[in-house]
Order: sequence, then structure tokens, then C-alpha cells
Amino acid sequence: MSSLEGKIAFITGAGSGIGRQSALLMAGAGARIVVCDRDEEAGQATVGMIEGKGGGASLVVADVSDDGQMRAAIDSACSEYGGLHVLFNNAGIFPDGDGSPVDTPLDIWQWVIDVNLKGVFLGCKYGIPAMLESGGGSIINTASFVAVMGAATSQIAYTASKGGVLAMTREIAVEYARQGIRANALCPGPVRTPLLEEFLSDPEVKARRLVHIPMGRLAEPEEIAQAVLFLASEASAYVTGTTFLVDGGISASYVTPE
Ligand SMILES: NC(=O)c1ccc[n+]([C@@H]2O[C@H](COP(=O)([O-])OP(=O)(O)OC[C@H]3O[C@@H](n4cnc5c(N)ncnc54)[C@H](O)[C@@H]3O)[C@@H](O)[C@H]2O)c1
Repeated sequence: MSSLEGKIAFITGAGSGIGRQSALLMAGAGARIVVCDRDEEAGQATVGMIEGKGGGASLVVADVSDDGQMRAAIDSACSEYGGLHVLFNNAGIFPDGDGSPVDTPLDIWQWVIDVNLKGVFLGCKYGIPAMLESGGGSIINTASFVAVMGAATSQIAYTASKGGVLAMTREIAVEYARQGIRANALCPGPVRTPLLEEFLSDPEVKARRLVHIPMGRLAEPEEIAQAVLFLASEASAYVTGTTFLVDGGISASYVTPE
């Protein structure tokens, strides 16, 4: 079992889906969790779940795309707990209107890039100095399988943002490898969370997606959280700079089984 005993973990988008399940799992492994979300109620619910299981957690309400809010969020986490060892930059959006390059409005493009890419940059900008002061740690940035392969179901801003996260994470991994910080880009396949469920509410769209997944099903958020726990802990001590795919075999397949 991966231990995070004595570690402080800052998780963005921890009010739902992958972020929430990762927060629960990391708390179960002994970490104290700073739940960061723009949605206060959702974030508080995650804190309540962790505390209900005897874990330690606190909430910071922040929009990851806002420079001042992210700086303050990481500062307050460090002053409350005295350090930072795990940074999971996970918050992301996939709004209606993000489609083909021709149709996607500029404001949707900018919103997605601000949250999904600038948000990760800001987490690293303020998180890395705190991790260096704490003696190092592990950064996990959520990209996606769409960062490594193209889809005809276009979501151009989302895909571009995740490609940026992947490239940025590699560079951070190389730059900080000798200073005790590891950085990996988590690339989930489709996961059964609110972010995707709305998009897949149309059975035809869902069937079109499932046909490309060798396992023939979506991932559960807990399955992605297990990978996050591995990357966060010393169990992955020699793993850095990876494109960490947890995708049910999508990126390996050309033809899927019947
Ligand atoms: N669900 C999938 O199929 C899938 C696949 C690949 C990658 N991902 C990525 O995984 C990450 C988590 O996705 P999820 O499916 O758990 O999503 P989700 O919608 O279930 O949860 C996202 C959380 O992020 C929060 N959030 C959104 N914008 C924010 C902002 N500006 N500032 C702070 N918090 C904000 C939301 O309030 C929510 O609690 C995202 O980066 C997403 O792109 C998801």
C-alpha cells in the first residue's frame, strides 16, 4: 500500500469526480488534504467525507485561473499545515460550445485555456517554491488521452489545453528532477464523472465513444485515483516526466474486440 503519512496534498477540483476520489484515497493513505475548488459546497462536502473517515482536510475556495486566488490558496495551505508535498493540478472544464476550430467561439476557447492550462501553470508557479521549501515532492497534472491522440468528435480548446499540460509537465519534470520534485502528466481515458456524463447523455454519442475502448466501458473515478495515489507516493520514486495513460487500452488499439 502506498503511504502518504505526514504529507500535505493540495488538490484542485477536489469537489467532484477524479479530484474527490483522489482526495479520499490520499487521506486514507495518511496525507492531510487541502481541498481546492471554486464550488464551496462541493469542496466542503469532500472535506466532510474525509473527516467522516477520520482524515484531516481543509477547504480553500479558489478559481484556478485567477492568479491572486491561487497564490493565496497555496500560501494559506502552507501556513495552515506547514508545507506542501503533493500538488495535484486536476481542475478542468469541458464546456458546451467547445467544438471544431471553425465553430468554437473565442470566449469559450479562452475560458478553457484559462482553467485547464493557465490553472495548471499557476498551481506550479506557486506550488513549486513551496515544495522546494518542504524538501521536494510530487506534482501530478491532469492532461487527458486526447493530448496524445486525435478525435473526430472535436473539442479543440480542450484538446489544445491538455496538449499544453502534457508538454509543460515534461519540462517541469526535467527542470526539477535534481531538486527532489517529480512531475507526471496523468492522462485518463473517458471517466464516469459529471464532466463527461452530460456529454454522453446522448446514447448515440456514448455508443460512438465506447466502441473505441478495448475494455468497452468508462473508467470509474476510483480507478484513476489509484493511479494518482501511486504517482503521489514514494511507490513511484523513479517515475517522472511520464505521459501516464490510464485509458482502458484506447491508445494501444487500432481495432477493438467485438
Ligand atoms: N471525466 C473524464 O472523462 C476525463 C477524461 C480525461 C481527463 N479528465 C480531466 O480530469 C480532471 C477532472 O475531471 P472530472 O471528470 O473529475 O471533472 P468534474 O467535473 O467531476 O470535477 C471538476 C471539479 O473542478 C472544479 N472546477 C472547475 N473549474 C474550476 C476552476 N476554475 N477553479 C477551481 N475549481 C474548478 C469543479 O467545481 C469540480 O468540482 C479535469 O482536468 C478533466 O479535464 C477527465
